[in-house]
Amino acid sequence: MHRHGNIPKAFEGRNSRLYNFVAKRLLRRVYRRLAQDVANLAPEKASILDVGTGPGVLLMELAQRRADLRLTGVDLSADMVAVAAKNLAPQGERATVRVGDVTGLPFPDASFDLIVSSLSLHHWDDPEAAAPELARVLRPGGRVVIYDFRFAPFDKLAAASRAERGAVATGVPFFPKLTRFVLSS
Ligand SMILES: C[S@@+](CC[C@H](N)C(=O)[O-])C[C@H]1O[C@@H](n2cnc3c(N)ncnc32)[C@H](O)[C@@H]1O
Repeated sequence: MHRHGNIPKAFEGRNSRLYNFVAKRLLRRVYRRLAQDVANLAPEKASILDVGTGPGVLLMELAQRRADLRLTGVDLSADMVAVAAKNLAPQGERATVRVGDVTGLPFPDASFDLIVSSLSLHHWDDPEAAAPELARVLRPGGRVVIYDFRFAPFDKLAAASRAERGAVATGVPFFPKLTRFVLSS
């Protein structure tokens, strides 16, 4: 039985820098695989939001694949946002990062064509409250694509939305497959 919910200490201070090292150096293949999946799904010139972006490695990889996208990251941890801002600085104005909670996103209605999230859902304290908020900032016809471990509370999000589930193989031996969960507006 897995416990869900945020672990603020794991994502603050030196732990945010340690996480950055692990994500960039040890798990880079995972983010390359996910970014390719997102790049295949994103409409031309889309505005993309990455929820719980952490150090923003998924957005870094996405930026390399699709020069036409506008990229936004949001995360509860100000330290993670600082790390992500540094990682995404070479992208200039097309990539921005902000502090925010998935249950109260700091964006106007219908701001994004595609919302993504990786390895964050199992840290959300209130996944049911996230569903209407994700729907609010999504443009009509948009999609929400969430990648996480099988034990993440996908069922709670699904209960509040119309959803499909699939799998994405990441190609990393100790990280063989993540669940992909798609909500359509
Ligand atoms: C395991 S990290 C994943 C980071 C990044 N998406 C990745 O794949 O490397 C989980 C992140 O989710 C963030 N987080 C947890 N609860 C959140 C919430 N309610 N709203 C926004 N971000 C949240 C944490 O601060 C942390 O940076």
